[in-house]
Amino acid sequence: MSEVRKEILIAKADIDKRVQELADVISRDYEGKELILIGILKGAFVFMADLIRYLRIPCQVDFVRLASYGAGTMSTGNITISKDIETSIQGRDVLVVEDILDTGLTLSSLVERLKKKDPRSLKICVFLDKKDRRKVPFEAEYVGFDIPDRFVVGYGLDFNEMYRFLPDVCVIGES
Ligand code: PRP
Repeated sequence: MSEVRKEILIAKADIDKRVQELADVISRDYEGKELILIGILKGAFVFMADLIRYLRIPCQVDFVRLASYGAGTMSTGNITISKDIETSIQGRDVLVVEDILDTGLTLSSLVERLKKKDPRSLKICVFLDKKDRRKVPFEAEYVGFDIPDRFVVGYGLDFNEMYRFLPDVCVIGES
């Protein structure tokens, strides 16, 4: 079996600095408001855990888990939910927190679904954005890092459920 090679793309110290910057901007934008953060499991759990500890506004958290299914089905952009949010978001300020924005199919479909629950506002914060990979037009209001089209792991992101624990974002390849 070939060995998996890992190369650091974004180091822990740079991640930490950028997450603080994002939290500062979000705290300013939502000053005087109470935010509900909705994390998309599993990938977003590390980013969200760091982000909330730098926010200076009161916030609640909830999570959604999307059912995974084959590439053919994903191309329709219709997602199914395996664990829905448990908080009412009607009339509330909502920030969806995601690890990576890639084709945009997941978030565009989730946003349409959440809008039906009638939040007062709904914005998106993604840790990584692979803009070159978009299949549907989608922009997040808050972006940690724009990255090239490379397979990345770490800081919550996985390859076959491995490497989520890595503190840096790494590119992997077989050597
Ligand atoms: C990844 C990521 C996003 C989605 C982005 O999830 O966390 O949810 O893919 O892709 P898209 O923009 O092309 O729709 P994944 O299915 O790997 O699940 P995970 O979060 O449990 O790792």
